Amino acid sequence: MKLSKLLVLLLGMTLSGATLAAGEIVIKFSHVVAVDTPKGKAAEYFKKVAEEKTHGKVKVEVYPNSQLYKDKEEMEALQLGAVQMLAPSLAKFGPLGVKEFEVFDLPYIFDNYEELHKVTQGPIGQSLLKKVESKGLYGLAFWDNGFKSFSANKFLKMPADYRGLKMRIQSSKVLEEEIRALGGLPQVMAFSEVYQALQTGVVDGTENPPSNMYTQKMHEVQSHMSVTDHGYLGYAVLVNKKFWDSLPADVRKSLDEAMKEATVFANKIAKEENDHSLEQIRKSGKTQIHQLTKEERIALKKALVPVHQKMESRIGADLIKSIYKETGFDPNQL
Ligand code: LMR
Repeated sequence: MKLSKLLVLLLGMTLSGATLAAGEIVIKFSHVVAVDTPKGKAAEYFKKVAEEKTHGKVKVEVYPNSQLYKDKEEMEALQLGAVQMLAPSLAKFGPLGVKEFEVFDLPYIFDNYEELHKVTQGPIGQSLLKKVESKGLYGLAFWDNGFKSFSANKFLKMPADYRGLKMRIQSSKVLEEEIRALGGLPQVMAFSEVYQALQTGVVDGTENPPSNMYTQKMHEVQSHMSVTDHGYLGYAVLVNKKFWDSLPADVRKSLDEAMKEATVFANKIAKEENDHSLEQIRKSGKTQIHQLTKEERIALKKALVPVHQKMESRIGADLIKSIYKETGFDPNQL
């Protein structure tokens, strides 16, 4: 076993802190965002419902804010069984070897949550979740966050404004191509390091939905933000498959029901949370918010939609086409 993997495993064990009563099942649920976000709140909601439904047989311990693991480590920890549950962003499945999830990163592929849900809540979503099983994982659900904006220390109106900017992205090849299409320099970095990287100028800008920007205080170290809604950010809730399969059938059934309820909750609050965060950023007066004009939006879309075709061989042309069919997206019509 690699030393880093061993450390990940040991860290998980020492930090668990739980003294188990006989027969008690503990689910350690690690994530990287603040409690006060769509994912943070949905994780707490799942904990409450799961514990109620299993009448004390299951204890869910939620570790928010990269407290336990950062992006890459948390996937390793889940595979090793040091944690039992995660909800990584769909842009972080490439390193796991499941590149198809990067389809969600394609710029402008979804115009709104309704279009997105046709995919995540339908057969395409189900077949995507199945793909993690060969990695020792089991996919339970998709949880929404929202549509991303760009931020930097200058106005980002037209594609030319991004030229030469170092932009922090998640570990997705599609996002790398997205930034290159704008003439920027993509920098993959763990979420927990973004605030400091923006503050110290290691990167010039970034992208995320408002809820992530606001709760990490990114707006305090970025003078400008453009509401571009150019791409989607959401999550797949995963469990360690061995752990899941080892659960008594009645417990698994209750946890499944709890997950269904948590998913309804997550997807209900996501938009409200992001609208609220955008409002809070506006109110803070710390960053100038720009709403793209129609012309600016068309120019950005024109620059970014060619990323779809470029990434076909990585993601699969058929998968991309099947999503176009669900949503009605036409790459030739901007
Ligand atoms: C990011 O790394 O920007 C996001 O994926 C964080 C998250 O989990 O929402």
